[in-house]
Amino acid sequence: MHAMLADDAGNLSWSAVPDPQPRRDEVLVTVHAAAVNRADLLQRVGKYPPPPGAPAWMGLEAAGIVAGVGPDAAPGPGGRPWQVGDRVCALLPGGGYAEAVAARPELLLPVPAALSMAEAASLPEVFATAYLDLVLEAGLQAGDTVLIQAGASGVGVAAIQLAKLLGAHVLTTVSGPAKAAAVRRLGADEVVDRRSGDLGAAMDACAAAGRPVAIALDCVGGTDLGPHLARMADGGRWVLIATLGGETAEIPLRVVLKRGLRLIGSTLRSRPLAMKACVIAGVHQTVWPALAAGTVRPVVHAVLPMAEAAAAHAILERGENIGKVALTVLPD
Ligand SMILES: NC(=O)c1ccc[n+]([C@@H]2O[C@H](COP(=O)([O-])OP(=O)(O)OC[C@H]3O[C@@H](n4cnc5c(N)ncnc54)[C@H](OP(=O)(O)O)[C@@H]3O)[C@@H](O)[C@H]2O)c1
Repeated sequence: MHAMLADDAGNLSWSAVPDPQPRRDEVLVTVHAAAVNRADLLQRVGKYPPPPGAPAWMGLEAAGIVAGVGPDAAPGPGGRPWQVGDRVCALLPGGGYAEAVAARPELLLPVPAALSMAEAASLPEVFATAYLDLVLEAGLQAGDTVLIQAGASGVGVAAIQLAKLLGAHVLTTVSGPAKAAAVRRLGADEVVDRRSGDLGAAMDACAAAGRPVAIALDCVGGTDLGPHLARMADGGRWVLIATLGGETAEIPLRVVLKRGLRLIGSTLRSRPLAMKACVIAGVHQTVWPALAAGTVRPVVHAVLPMAEAAAAHAILERGENIGKVALTVLPD
C-alpha cells in the first residue's frame, strides 16, 4: 500500500510501504479520508515521534471502511461487533495518512449516516480530546463557565460544541472577526479577539456577572497563564493541552493553594488503551446522538486530496483554518 512519508527535512512523499498486519484483536480499515492535527506538523519534522508499535507515518484520525475483523476483536463502543463493510472513523496513535490502517476496535466509531468520510475523519481526535479534558479531567457540569482558548481550532470547534451540549457558558478566544463570527455560530457566548481584546478583563466580567470561569481548556500556556489562572472560580480546573504561546509561566502559588485551583496537564495520545476506550465510549454516548440530530456538526474548513498534504499543513501553519482540514484518499 501507500502512505505519506516525511524525510528528515519534512518533505512529504506518497510512498510504497508494507501493508498493515492487523493483530488478532484489531480491525483493518481501508482509509477514505484522514484529518490533519497540529501534532502532525510536529511529527513531520521529528518533534513528536509516534509511540512504540504505531506506524511511522502521520495521522491521528481517519475514516474508511472495515476490510477485516480479527477473530479476537472487541465490539465497538455501542456493543455491536464490527463487520466488514462498516463505515467507521478511528482514533489512531498514528498511521492515518495511508491507504489502510490497523485500528483498535474499541477506538472506532460508526460514521453517522449523513456525513462524508472527510467530515467523519475530522471527528475522533478533537471530540476525544474535548471529552477527555472537559468531562473526565475537569468534571464539567451544566451551568459551568468554560474558557476555551483557540475556539476556532480543530479542538476548539469540538470543545465549544461539547461544552454547549452539556449546558456550559462558553468564553473563547480567536483571532479576527471571521473566526469570531464562526465560533458564535457554534454557540460560544462570549468571544475575545486575542490580538485586540483582553482575556483577563473578560474573565473578570464573567466573575462580576456571577459566573466565574470554572474550567479552562488551554492550548496556549505561556506567561499569561498565571494571571489568568488567578481569575478562576474557587476550585477551578485549568487543563493545559499544549504550549503554543510559550513553555514557561509564573504561577501564583498562594492563590492556587488558598483557592483550591488545579492545573492539569493532559495529552490524549499517551493515555493507556483502556482510558482511550473509555473516552471513545463517552464520545459515542454523548456526541453521537447530537451528531445524528444535527445539534453538533463537523466543522471542516477545507478538504484536499492526500497528495496535497503539505498544502493542508500550511493552512494550519498560517492559522487560517476554522475547524478541521481533511485529506481524501478514496472517494466516498
Ligand atoms: N494534549 C492533547 O491531548 C491535545 C490533543 C489535540 C490537540 N492538542 C493541541 O491543541 C492545539 C490545537 O490543536 P488543533 O489541531 O486543533 O490546532 P489548529 O486547528 O491548528 O489550531 C491552532 C490555533 O491556535 C491558535 N493560537 C493561539 N495562540 C497561538 C500561538 N501562540 N501560536 C499559534 N497558534 C495560536 C490559532 O488560532 P487563533 O489565531 O484564532 O487564536 C491557531 O489557528 C494544538 O497545540 C495541539 O497540539 C493537544
